Amino acid sequence: MEVTLRIKRYNPDSDVKPHFEEYAVNVEPTDRVLDALNEIKWHHDGTLTYRRSCAHGVCGSDAMRINGRNRLACKILMRELGKKITLEPLIGFKVIKDLVVDMDQFFASYKSVKPYLIAEDAPSAGERLQSPEDRERYDDTTKCILCAACTTACPITWTSEEFVGPAAIVNAHRFIFDSRDQGTADRLRILNTRSGVWRCRTIFNCTDACPRGIEVTRAIEQVKRALLYEQI
Ligand code: SF4
Ligand code: FES
Repeated sequence: MEVTLRIKRYNPDSDVKPHFEEYAVNVEPTDRVLDALNEIKWHHDGTLTYRRSCAHGVCGSDAMRINGRNRLACKILMRELGKKITLEPLIGFKVIKDLVVDMDQFFASYKSVKPYLIAEDAPSAGERLQSPEDRERYDDTTKCILCAACTTACPITWTSEEFVGPAAIVNAHRFIFDSRDQGTADRLRILNTRSGVWRCRTIFNCTDACPRGIEVTRAIEQVKRALLYEQI
């Protein structure tokens, strides 16, 4: 089928501001948006710039706005989108070129919550054991691929550079609720600020945007409850 991709383009070396360009391409209904982008780049216009790597929803590098919603280009089939498809970069981050945004602040926020296991004591029996029930408590938040779809869907992020953002809180949650971790108090202190969980207004855009189906808003609420009631 023939579809038209309307893509927001911006080259900081030559453009004063972003503009849309249209490309008519032939695709299969079962092609992904990423296949259509590759068709344009490889056969129509090699200057088109976007990130991609795994092409299978694992690396998180091709999150973009597809018909106004944050999605992964490698996960969405053309038959789901109609004949005219609008592609834009994620909102809230500086655009480097076309569909590529600057992720530096996103990863700085991620690193700020110490997203790794902190366990000072030596394991008692050769390894750090955990019951299936304890493992289940943070199972949902292990699925994050750091695509930034949640953080850039959040209107608080659009207006506040200080807000750590949903993705960072999700990755803090993954360790806060891990029974083997000893860094919980430190992470909660980091998030117990105006730029931490209390900036969240429970809008649910983050949960709607997550391509991994993570209940992002629920994870944020659990961190808030851990702070308010020491429920961990
Ligand atoms: Fe992407 Fe979901 Fe992780 Fe947010 S929580 S960065 S939307 S995978
Ligand atoms: Fe890796 Fe889409 S290219 S998630």
